[in-house]
Amino acid sequence: MTHQKILIAPSILAADFSRLEDEVQRAEEAGSDWLHLDIMDGHFVDNISFGPAVVATVRKHTKLPLDVHLMIEHADHYLPRFFEAGANSITIHVEPEANHDVGQTLAAIRGAGCGAGLALNPATPFEAIEPYLPTLDLLLVMTVHPGFGGQAFRPEMMEKVKRAKAWRDANGGKLHLEVDGGINAQTAKLSTENGADVLVAGTSIFRTKDYGAAIRELRGR
Ligand code: DX5
Ligand code: ZN
Repeated sequence: MTHQKILIAPSILAADFSRLEDEVQRAEEAGSDWLHLDIMDGHFVDNISFGPAVVATVRKHTKLPLDVHLMIEHADHYLPRFFEAGANSITIHVEPEANHDVGQTLAAIRGAGCGAGLALNPATPFEAIEPYLPTLDLLLVMTVHPGFGGQAFRPEMMEKVKRAKAWRDANGGKLHLEVDGGINAQTAKLSTENGADVLVAGTSIFRTKDYGAAIRELRGR
């Protein structure tokens, strides 16, 4: 049984961008804890989403913490624009294809007073992120290959969540364990049972009529 409060972070990638203000306010009223903003550059992932200008727009319409997920190359170069836009937490990717110095980029995020997150893709071994664990506010275990919403959850990723939870318990760490991709009522339960405390969900919230009901389902209520 998890003792961490479970946080729900709707991913606005699945929202109706023609009504972004309304979608953000509905998600907040529905009981979201954070908002997850997926930044994609068409290089690190095979899709292009939105940039700092959309983060700044969302910032204007909610007090919720903005959990910015950078699926981009050279994240270090773009950090100042996301700080300026109002990000509360910034997650970068550990893969070499992201083309930045992971330790330095994490230090720059923390240095700006922003939460520092590190993400690993399904194909990336847990060992790749282990050296950084003591410096993280958040570890993002991708449960799909990044780039698109609506993909199928990869249950074998629970091994990584379990290892991260074991590290956190053994080292008195306070980092959040976040899962992202294919999260619905069933996979949310599996993820929290294995130690995840932050659930990112796009399709299972924004593609439904009642966001509140969808969020309660993710919380297992
Ligand atoms: C995928 C993104 C996810 C995605 C979630 O690259 O990182 O945050 O938007 O998608 P769903 O919840 O729709 O599977
Ligand atoms: Zn994401």
